[in-house]
Amino acid sequence: MKIGIVIGSVRQGARGNSVAEVLLTAANDYAQDKTDLSFEIIDLKDYPLPVFYKQRYNGDEPEYETKMALSAKLKEMDSYIFVIPEYNHSITAGLKNILEYYYTEFNNKALGIVSYGKDLGVRSAQMLREIAAELRMADVRTHVTIDLFAEFDENGKFTPRDFNVQRFDNLFDDVVEWGQALEHLRNKK
Ligand SMILES: Cc1cc2nc3c(=O)[nH]c(=O)nc-3n(C[C@H](O)[C@H](O)[C@H](O)COP(=O)(O)O)c2cc1C
Repeated sequence: MKIGIVIGSVRQGARGNSVAEVLLTAANDYAQDKTDLSFEIIDLKDYPLPVFYKQRYNGDEPEYETKMALSAKLKEMDSYIFVIPEYNHSITAGLKNILEYYYTEFNNKALGIVSYGKDLGVRSAQMLREIAAELRMADVRTHVTIDLFAEFDENGKFTPRDFNVQRFDNLFDDVVEWGQALEHLRNKK
């Protein structure tokens, strides 16, 4: 099982990158004594796509290769953890844009959420849960909430509080178990 850690901010110097790196280290520790489990960061900044403007591609669009490359990367994943900040009480436009580009790439996969903001990013997480339903994603109960003011230094480097370190493992448990449970549906197509 492969789990994609998606960085949900495309801002230059995003705090999300530091969160994703710490999460990946914890994930690799978690996966060490498990068979067939791996995690990979997907940084949306590596796949610059314009604001969604068409549904049917014929292959001569300037962003065609980028669109196909991200599609292939997303298809590789059996489930996801989205690392998301809160922008104007919602998810970022960058992430929402990607959620408009793709559909089957997200279907029947588990979704874990790690959010951060001045109010822990809870509003953006709730928004994402509503969107996830439409994308046929199964959002899990465990939600890692990060305090913008207590868990980052002045350079945006993330250091989790102890209880969040424990919650990382709970999140991995949930995403792996629900991801496995949905395998039957993923294989139907
Ligand atoms: C356009 C914009 C809107 C924001 N709106 C909120 C908000 O509604 N609530 C909040 O807690 N933080 C808000 N913030 C602060 C972000 O949570 C903070 O800048 C965070 O570092 C952004 O994540 P990033 O660094 O990964 O892009 C906002 C930041 C930006 C740039």
